[in-house]
Amino acid sequence: MSLHDLFTSNPVIPVVVVDSVDQGINVAHALLAGGITTAEVTFRTAAAPDAIREMSRIDGLNVGAGTVLNVAQAEAAIKAGATYIVSPGFSANVVRYCQEAGVPVLPACTDGTLIMAALEYGLDTVKFFPANIMGGIPAMSSFASVFPQLRFVPTGGVNAQNLAEYLAVPHIAACGGSWMVDKKLIHANQWDTITSLCAQAMTIAKETGR
Ligand code: 3PG
Repeated sequence: MSLHDLFTSNPVIPVVVVDSVDQGINVAHALLAGGITTAEVTFRTAAAPDAIREMSRIDGLNVGAGTVLNVAQAEAAIKAGATYIVSPGFSANVVRYCQEAGVPVLPACTDGTLIMAALEYGLDTVKFFPANIMGGIPAMSSFASVFPQLRFVPTGGVNAQNLAEYLAVPHIAACGGSWMVDKKLIHANQWDTITSLCAQAMTIAKETGR
């Protein structure tokens, strides 16, 4: 699936941190019940590759890998079945590796130099992280005036309160965040709460016309 199709069906991307495969599977079912059909499973825990592998087996769920810092992690993620790769910064090695593997890649680019590097690699969408610290919507709008072909996926400080504001911006392709899959909810097995927060996020997205 292209990133364009992914973001059209999922304007809100949950950024997931799991400590076990079981947690990943429970999160996956909770997301699907809330109407979200993708999960960005981050390489912040050792469980990530196994969780990606098992979550990818669940019907209707598209699983990507997040917090991918190097080629070794990108390789492990893709081998496990990740259908897209997200990085918190721009690594030419990671981008090149994913492109050669035919897997969409979303590096975070928060200044003109990084954006131009992404454009040189043929990318038309970048992550904007940490969005709340790096200037939020005004910063992305300034970049949009000089890079009109570029679309952004902000993460970092996006939540149910400001989601509508972000999604109302045409050069924002989708928003990512951890608020609906907060670690505390996962550790407390609050799967119904995760489902409600996902459903709420999708309702907000629909209200913005996504
Ligand atoms: C990410 O990896 O994109 C961020 O951790 C998401 O930021 P948030 O936790 O503030 O939603």
